[in-house]
Amino acid sequence: MYKILMVCLGNICRSPMAEFIFRDMAEKEGRGKEFYLASAGTSDEEYGNPVYPPAKRKLHSLGIDCSGKRARQMTKRDYEEYDLLLGMEQRNLNAMRRICGGDPKGKIHLLLEHSPFPRDIADPWYTGDFDAACRDIQEGCRQWLEIIQ
Ligand code: 4NP
Repeated sequence: MYKILMVCLGNICRSPMAEFIFRDMAEKEGRGKEFYLASAGTSDEEYGNPVYPPAKRKLHSLGIDCSGKRARQMTKRDYEEYDLLLGMEQRNLNAMRRICGGDPKGKIHLLLEHSPFPRDIADPWYTGDFDAACRDIQEGCRQWLEIIQ
């Protein structure tokens, strides 16, 4: 079982979308049992909160239910627990390395690292563009799913 932690700032928009979209893609390819997915935030500001309604609606439009998800903050222990920790933007990677005391095992990566145009996932909390965030997240999830064989 390959364990992936999706990480953003608040854990109410991008990283839950990435967690649920990756799981859904893996299941649809018949690879659901290969992966264990979870998500967390680098901040504790949204601790205990459900997925932000526009992100939840976006997932719902894809036939994905995320109603049980509650936000939590990433911890140093996650670094040992997970095989791969995927940040949504460069800023997340910096905070993740700070929380983990570096990245000695090379587990911390950017979700869109393997894109022909590697880039951050713009935060829809600020842009309001949940469609763009979702498209970018789908691209990143598809690429990682192919790479992890
Ligand atoms: P996320 O978006 O990192 O994609 O979950 C945010 C959610 C909440 C806040 C910032 C970003 N906030 O400042 O509360």
